[in-house]
Amino acid sequence: MSLGHCHPEVSAAFIDKISRYAHLSNYFLDEDCIYVADKLVSFSGKKGKVFFTNSGTEATEAALKAVKKISTACKNKIVFLKNGFHGRTLGALSVNGFENLTGQFMPLLGNTVCLNINDCEELDKYMLENAQNTAAMFVEPIQGSGGVLPLTREFAQKIEKYHKECRFLLISDEVQAGLGRTGKIYSYQNYPLDPDIITLAKSLGGGLPLGAAVFLEESGNILKDPDHGSTFAPNPVALAGARVITDKIPEVVEGVNEKSEYLKKKLEPLTCENIAEVRGMGLMLGAVMEKPVENLLKKGVDNFILLNLVRKSIIRLLPALNITFQQIDEMAEKLLIVLKE
Ligand SMILES: Cc1ncc(COP(=O)(O)O)c(C=O)c1O
Repeated sequence: MSLGHCHPEVSAAFIDKISRYAHLSNYFLDEDCIYVADKLVSFSGKKGKVFFTNSGTEATEAALKAVKKISTACKNKIVFLKNGFHGRTLGALSVNGFENLTGQFMPLLGNTVCLNINDCEELDKYMLENAQNTAAMFVEPIQGSGGVLPLTREFAQKIEKYHKECRFLLISDEVQAGLGRTGKIYSYQNYPLDPDIITLAKSLGGGLPLGAAVFLEESGNILKDPDHGSTFAPNPVALAGARVITDKIPEVVEGVNEKSEYLKKKLEPLTCENIAEVRGMGLMLGAVMEKPVENLLKKGVDNFILLNLVRKSIIRLLPALNITFQQIDEMAEKLLIVLKE
């Protein structure tokens, strides 16, 4: 929720649209569809085309279908990273780096390769043998469910070097980290990365289900009518919210890094209270606990703070991007109380 719950302009846009129609036949183009698509493409500074979806996992599916369409008998490997998360459908699970989520559903799509995040040596070794066989690579520039773990600059540089040399499709999963959360509109813009496809969802629809696969430059020519489609996507009410979100994000993003520094400073005392490290970018921060705290989430709720734990010992903080400094004070105070208990 990049602008928090019930942002007055988002709510007004929902109400206005739903009082006219809640669904539109795909014989018609909703007025906000091209507007939002143009915005998403323009944020990249490139040309492109957008396929709207109802979720992040469906955006991954759209990207995967493009990858499958350009794959050949000799160029068909799809690389993803350990603890990377791109969704839970069978296609998306095939590039999901959580073994506990994928194991029961094997076999998934073939020709996928899981590499360790930030392991340059392993990437070099893999590319030495497979550079010409690789059709695509999926990355989250900052892993969310994987523990709020950013790519190192060196690793990102290597990915981009191989991407350019070997001409595979690079997919930047921006479902969680995109649309301003890391202090840039797209999280890959913190790195020397130049993706072909961007996937989005979560905050895009202002709380209603909406995702997108943004196909940049030539990748926009891969999927053609009738290669892919959806009855409900894009929902016009969600698009009305997305219009407000995409209008406001460029302004809101300007305050994100200042708020990030402020929040990190507030969390410094926590380093004495079982927190080993606060990592991440912008307003996507992870407080890494030295040891898991019993009943942490319940303690949070008792203190009116909703906490999210990833990988058992990392408190993932994803506040609204328009959070006020006063609200940050309140959030940090409560977090301190919960960790002291
Ligand atoms: C990085 C990332 N990609 C994809 C997804 C899947 O999105 P959805 O839950 O909307 O299908 C998620 C969901 O948590 C995510 O964090």
